Amino acid sequence: MTEQIAIVSGDGIGQEVVPATRRVLEVIGPQFEFMEADAGDAVKEETGTALPDGTRELVAGADATLFGAAGETAADVILPLRRAVDSFVNVRPARAYPGTDALRPETDLVFLRENTEGVYAGHESRLTHDVTTLTRVVTESASERLAEFACEYVDERDEDGFTIAHKANVMRETDGLFRDTVDRVADVRGVPHDEALMDALATHLCLRPEEYGVIVCPNLAGDVLSDLAAGLVGGLGLLPSANIGPENALFEPVHGTAPDIAGEGVANPCATMFSAAMLLEYLGYDGEGQAVRDAVESVLENGPRTPDLGGSAGTGEVTEAVLTRLS
Ligand code: NAI
Ligand code: MG
Repeated sequence: MTEQIAIVSGDGIGQEVVPATRRVLEVIGPQFEFMEADAGDAVKEETGTALPDGTRELVAGADATLFGAAGETAADVILPLRRAVDSFVNVRPARAYPGTDALRPETDLVFLRENTEGVYAGHESRLTHDVTTLTRVVTESASERLAEFACEYVDERDEDGFTIAHKANVMRETDGLFRDTVDRVADVRGVPHDEALMDALATHLCLRPEEYGVIVCPNLAGDVLSDLAAGLVGGLGLLPSANIGPENALFEPVHGTAPDIAGEGVANPCATMFSAAMLLEYLGYDGEGQAVRDAVESVLENGPRTPDLGGSAGTGEVTEAVLTRLS
């Protein structure tokens, strides 16, 4: 069967790390058909729109998408693209790898972040010059869908269960519903789980990350806690993510366009390659996904490494090293 993979490199180092990762996918899967499309600042300058309809339609119709990053237009690009795949969960692993000088080398976390509502639902108002408000939306259906996904996620990976992050002691209705719904689904499915107040959890993750594994979060909490975890494992160049929808999914590094190093050929492609490993697993190519992961981890451990990890290699050299290990 041919898998159709949309490739949207975007701006800045997206133009470097995504083509490098496409080469890895080409080596892995001769059955993949790649379809390139544009989005971001450069397209906006040329055409007046950051996300052409054709790109949105391509992503909506593809089996999976690999996305790089967009610059100033990021919100105009990535939010509609996540909606194009109807993504209800953002999967963000944060793991420390040997050879990368992580602040907390014992960190091995996965955040499952609600991706459609919470404070990011877009209901903000300016009532007067002085007063602004925000309506936080939490639904039982979205919480349930996330919880079902979380239960399957830990079952498939033989994880011990998960932690529910929330602040239901203050946001009694919204986070109360979130907590109770995830708790109920996990009870029904027999998945072990505990819960943690998200502010205290931030402290515990810094002090004892090894005590945690999979963490199920409302939207904003997942955004903030996963960026905190990025700090524990040594920065943005290593973190992949997946936006999963009911029919298809979009995979992207957590980092942005890195304008300070864009065009220099030194961007670290590992986050995008780890995202590609998640893409392969999502499409059912578990062995291939693991092979990519192993190859990238081996390069991280033994070099060559890009300057953000203390090395002096370029994107191309790291990519060749990964390809060599795969062949
Ligand atoms: P950034 O992630 O682009 O860069 C932050 C720092 O990390 C920079 O020093 C950069 O050089 C470094 N860095 C990031 N990825 C790296 C990699 N793969 N290899 C080596 N070093 C790496 O975040 P920043 O500077 O806040 O944003 C820059 C632009 O990216 C902005 O225009 C922002 O809107 C956009 N952005 C887009 C995102 C997306 O499309 N999903 C996500 C985050 C930011
Ligand atoms: Mg963020």
